[in-house]
Amino acid sequence: MEVKKVILAIAVLGFLIGCKNKTKEPSSVKENSELSYYQEPYRPQFHFTPEKMWMNDPNGLVYHKGLYHLFYQYYPEDTVWGPMHWGHAVSKDMMHWEHRPIALFPDEHGLIFSGSAVVDVNNTSGFGSPENPALVAIFTYHLMEGEEAGRKDFQTQGIAYSLDNGDTWTKYTGNPVIENTGIRDFRDPKVFWNDKANKWTMLLVAGDHLQIWESPNLIDWQYTSEFGRQQGAHGGVWECPDLFPLEVEGTTEKKWVLLISINPGAPNGGSGTQYFIGDFDGSTFTSDQQEARWIDLGRDNYAGVTYNNVPNEDRIFIGWMSNWDYARDTPTEKWRSAMTLPRKLSLRKVGSGYGLFNFPLEGFDGLVEKAPLQKVAVRSMDVLSVPNENLNQSDLMFKTGAASFQLIFTNDLKEKLVVVVDRKNKMLILNRANSGRTGFHKSFPDPIQKMPLSDLPSGKINFRIIMDWSSLELFVNDGQHVMTTQLFPTSPYNNLVIKNMEENELQLEDFQLSKVKSIW
Ligand code: FRU
Repeated sequence: MEVKKVILAIAVLGFLIGCKNKTKEPSSVKENSELSYYQEPYRPQFHFTPEKMWMNDPNGLVYHKGLYHLFYQYYPEDTVWGPMHWGHAVSKDMMHWEHRPIALFPDEHGLIFSGSAVVDVNNTSGFGSPENPALVAIFTYHLMEGEEAGRKDFQTQGIAYSLDNGDTWTKYTGNPVIENTGIRDFRDPKVFWNDKANKWTMLLVAGDHLQIWESPNLIDWQYTSEFGRQQGAHGGVWECPDLFPLEVEGTTEKKWVLLISINPGAPNGGSGTQYFIGDFDGSTFTSDQQEARWIDLGRDNYAGVTYNNVPNEDRIFIGWMSNWDYARDTPTEKWRSAMTLPRKLSLRKVGSGYGLFNFPLEGFDGLVEKAPLQKVAVRSMDVLSVPNENLNQSDLMFKTGAASFQLIFTNDLKEKLVVVVDRKNKMLILNRANSGRTGFHKSFPDPIQKMPLSDLPSGKINFRIIMDWSSLELFVNDGQHVMTTQLFPTSPYNNLVIKNMEENELQLEDFQLSKVKSIW
């Protein structure tokens, strides 16, 4: 079959083309006014990254007095994992972030591992007052000396509080508030106010299962129940739990969703986040679900959890955009790792069951310089090239029926990131083997990332692909199926090739390839 290459005239798609010409916004938090601020190779332009050094999991996601807090696992001395602190940033819209000083430092009980934060509205802890409720952080202490001595009880749970909306923190003098009875992996407390029990609920992971604890005051904790020894995926250690109710869209039915990150054991290798849909009676979580289901089938969305205390009913998720397989080796110099875009979670009826959807918050649209809608057609077995200088800072959207096609993001060096949508076999495949710099770790290019496109409704399906300088987030059907992946092209991608794999003409409706503004 002859494959003809049709280059779309630049004049026609001139609006799609621009230069990487970022507007610099002054920000009080910048270390200095260097022109190169946030301009290093691979530096994401609209995803959160620390100014410098190593970051992993999002921690303590909480809204309080007009600010969305983002704490994160942080090692301020190096660009690889090391003694953990809680880094800190705040935002009014979860899109533009202001860096704040480190919130929590290691102490005699250990390093500060992952956890959550709550607003103690009723002053149950006594740390604040009804007029000025405390922000309370609940985290895992990891005692290196204990681990090195071969003990199993080196992870305990501690708390700290802030009375100035996160600027300064005081550790509770009675730490740890939960001791360890000999469970090697016992960590990542997620705490929320439980209306049913009129108490605080804490989720903890204990190796291969979830534990639920409860407390009247965030200080005295009691074990309540467990879940999951025999359910879901168990290829690695369970980490970073979260549990929350969601109303099934279009109904008044409420289900509870449990998130559990697992490393290794994700379907495409290494780290991944599974979810369970079930019920929570105030003390016990139950689910009929035996099989593992995944919030994101890309290689790079891990340890994600949701915000506490947001001013509306939204359930907002942020994940760490990396994978423990190669997180320490990615080719960035000044900093390492980024967070996903904040995403809204929703539950929808899918077939006879439910699906957990995740999709960028509407607020993200404010960063997008919307290009006009186009109708794009590609003839039978043909290819269409769409030159665009902004692909590494773009938001691509379109709708299409049950067609099979490829999207190839490529550059002058012929590096390419390939997305294959195979509707016949109901499969999406992402291949980054030749996407640019891949040799920094043997498991980075492989395996090919696969995502079954099961249970899609008939008719037109929307696709959205958001690409930053070192990541791609791909959403099918409003986020029913999602893939997040890192990429490191040697030079920016500047050509999008759309390849029709069928005899019929490929029609992409409401095609919109827009530039995304920088947040820094
Ligand atoms: C998940 C994790 C957590 C732990 C933290 C340590 O990525 O392993 O379980 O608390 O990272 O940095």
